[in-house]
Amino acid sequence: MKKPKELKVKPIKNGTVIDHITANKSLNVLKILGLPSDESKVTLAMNVQSAHMEKKDIVKIENRELASSEVDQIALIAPKATINIIRDYEIVGKGKVRLLNEIKSLLNCPNPNCISNTIEPVTGKFYVITKEPVILRCYYCERLMEEGEIESQF
Ligand SMILES: Nc1ncnc2c1ncn2[C@@H]1O[C@H](COP(=O)(O)OP(=O)(O)OP(=O)(O)O)[C@@H](O)[C@H]1O
Ligand SMILES: [Mg+2]
Ligand SMILES: [Zn+2]
Repeated sequence: MKKPKELKVKPIKNGTVIDHITANKSLNVLKILGLPSDESKVTLAMNVQSAHMEKKDIVKIENRELASSEVDQIALIAPKATINIIRDYEIVGKGKVRLLNEIKSLLNCPNPNCISNTIEPVTGKFYVITKEPVILRCYYCERLMEEGEIESQF
């Protein structure tokens, strides 16, 4: 029986393809990016085969080129993700996400008494203590946060 060549992601003219996302984490990646939004055209592929890893997710965002400050937060949950910038159907830029030393305004401290939870304008801020596995420390109360607690916030 003939099988068509598998096309995991249909071509886009302009935008961003986030490839090599840890399998099943693409919905969390969208959440980090504040997607979907009303104007955005987003396509997902979940649990597809990959040459680089056993299985992966892919996210394709049309007409939006993601800035590195946005994509680096993705490293928290998909450390192997690759960012491909597409212009006129061609890849014009390719890069890996990097876990930075500080995570700002994305996560909440699990300590209910932390000032980031009790004082309104203060938002969560964490230092990255180790990267594999990811362990964070609250800038305000020094509470440690591990991967399970990080993932449960998305
Ligand atoms: N115009 C496009 N529209 C949508 N997706 C695209 C487009 N061009 C490339 N892609 C996707 O972007 C990803 C990277 O494409 P590329 O051709 O660099 O593959 P690759 O050689 O396997 O790269 P890598 O080494 O990063 O895995 C693939 O998932 C590919 O399907
Ligand atoms: Mg590839
Ligand atoms: Zn705290």
